[in-house]
Amino acid sequence: MPPQPAAAAAPWRALFLSGLEKSSASSFTLSTIAHAPGKPAVPRARTVEFRGFFPKPASSLHHSAIDALKAQNIGLNPEVYESDLFSITTDARMGKVGQIGGSSNGEGDEAVEGVFWFDEGVKTQWRVRGRGVTVGSGKEEDAGRERRVQERIFRRMRLREGADGVSEEVKGWEWERQVATYFASHTPAMRGSYKNPTPGTPRSQNPSNPEWKLNQKVEDLRDPVARENFRVLVILPEEVETLDLSNPEDVRRTRWTFIEDGEAGRWQEIEMWP
Ligand SMILES: Cc1cc2nc3c(=O)[nH]c(=O)nc-3n(C[C@H](O)[C@H](O)[C@H](O)COP(=O)(O)O)c2cc1C
Repeated sequence: MPPQPAAAAAPWRALFLSGLEKSSASSFTLSTIAHAPGKPAVPRARTVEFRGFFPKPASSLHHSAIDALKAQNIGLNPEVYESDLFSITTDARMGKVGQIGGSSNGEGDEAVEGVFWFDEGVKTQWRVRGRGVTVGSGKEEDAGRERRVQERIFRRMRLREGADGVSEEVKGWEWERQVATYFASHTPAMRGSYKNPTPGTPRSQNPSNPEWKLNQKVEDLRDPVARENFRVLVILPEEVETLDLSNPEDVRRTRWTFIEDGEAGRWQEIEMWP
């Protein structure tokens, strides 16, 4: 099921990337909704690092990470796909993953909103509303959910210009290798953080797994303890909104709404009063 080769980039994409580059911002605020039995739903927000649009190209990695992918026989995914889906990396044990329903035992609320503020010379707020999903669980009990999520992401991916959808190169693209690419993009110390004691549990409690300790360095990109907790969180945007304050006398607010229209979908743009 190759994605539609003709699908075009989102109309806001170039503007977003130019603001990101100019402002040198790299993190944003990600909000989720937390449900608990018998309690009203509450918002939760935290800072996360934007890891680019899915799928992260291997060529964007540090050369040591590229060398590690090759040396450990994982290899590099061909750079044949792109999308307008925001990616971040996270730990399956953190609150946000359960809140969006990405943990093994959880039904969650996939609704998320990401807020970027591009300050320096850009003065623009970006709000990205949509569905948050995770990939990267290798657990057998997650296999069905993982495949359904992959299909949803795949439907919003497109072939890069010049890529031939039926070529052997395109067929060689693999999900597992893509998750490993995100894992490799972290430093060994950052990879080690996926073997920390469970985030958010009391420090007075001994970790239930003796391999969970602070300050570990991970070189093995398949390290089972770290990879069990490592996830790529992908935002499938449904609504993207900018508030451009760069000219105080002409503040601009624009919203793009994703319309599921045939295979590829399309974006509808409206200019609003700020
Ligand atoms: C600058 C900065 C960047 C961060 N980047 C991430 C990230 O990319 N992924 C992540 O899961 N947490 C990141 N965190 C930590 C989160 O803010 C948060 O503490 C953690 O994800 C646990 O939140 P949760 O339990 O609500 O999921 C970052 C924190 C800061 C201050």
